[in-house]
Amino acid sequence: MFKLDKRLQAIANFVPAGSRIADIGSDHGYLALNLLESRIANFAIITDKNPAPLDSARKNSKLANIEDKNLEFRLGDGLSILEPNEVDTICIAGMGGALIGEILSESPNIVETAKRLILQPMNGMKPLRTWLYRAKWHIADEKLVEVDHKIYTIILAEPGESELPTSLELQLGPVIMQRYRKRKIFREHIRDRIQIMQRVVLDMSRSILAKRSPKYLELKETIEEMKSLLHCDEEILSEEDLSNLPTMIPRSL
Ligand SMILES: C[S@@+](CC[C@H](N)C(=O)[O-])C[C@H]1O[C@@H](n2cnc3c(N)ncnc32)[C@H](O)[C@@H]1O
Repeated sequence: MFKLDKRLQAIANFVPAGSRIADIGSDHGYLALNLLESRIANFAIITDKNPAPLDSARKNSKLANIEDKNLEFRLGDGLSILEPNEVDTICIAGMGGALIGEILSESPNIVETAKRLILQPMNGMKPLRTWLYRAKWHIADEKLVEVDHKIYTIILAEPGESELPTSLELQLGPVIMQRYRKRKIFREHIRDRIQIMQRVVLDMSRSILAKRSPKYLELKETIEEMKSLLHCDEEILSEEDLSNLPTMIPRSL
């Protein structure tokens, strides 16, 4: 059985038993192969835009002796190599949020026949979450996991219109903000986001035009909101668990 790391396992945990999945940009193929081996997926399509990663997934499937009738390999860009209704679950992991958004928006006929999207963007979370809500999807669940000191966000989206979350929720995750609020990983997540945004603000501040743009102001506002969230949560936690105090000192602020 292909052992998944915490990131891929968290993605796999969002896949219900009996699913027909497509793993877009699968590379090694571990996710789909594990889901087939564990009999959570009945059928899987492993795809990649590049031949070499697809070959490595093929080799891994031979190593695992996975039955060919339940598994297909397809070379191609995004969802263009799928037919409507072939799968009910689309997984896209390890890519930038902008690329994931592009892949989804370029194939509305495929996306509209899926029952769930499981997405693990490496960045660009806010535009991706915004895209989901505008495209009449909503976030049903989210996970934060840490692997090798890096925090990953995993989003489970399901069809259905829902109210657009606030700007801060789109940035940090509406479910994450509720479920992880008092956890150390949430504070680390906020610090990561602040660091990334501060770098963008610094770059923008070098151009007079960029400094006057609404994006610059929005970024600065969001950074302040996140900082106050961090301080506010630290106060709550310090009352609840004094032993956690040393981990609450912001690393980079
Ligand atoms: C960083 S790897 C992620 C592999 C795996 N999904 C994971 O999360 O471990 C990204 C993979 O996506 C593939 N890829 C990038 N853009 C793609 C696209 N538009 N369509 C399909 N695959 C793509 C790359 O060739 C690469 O194998």
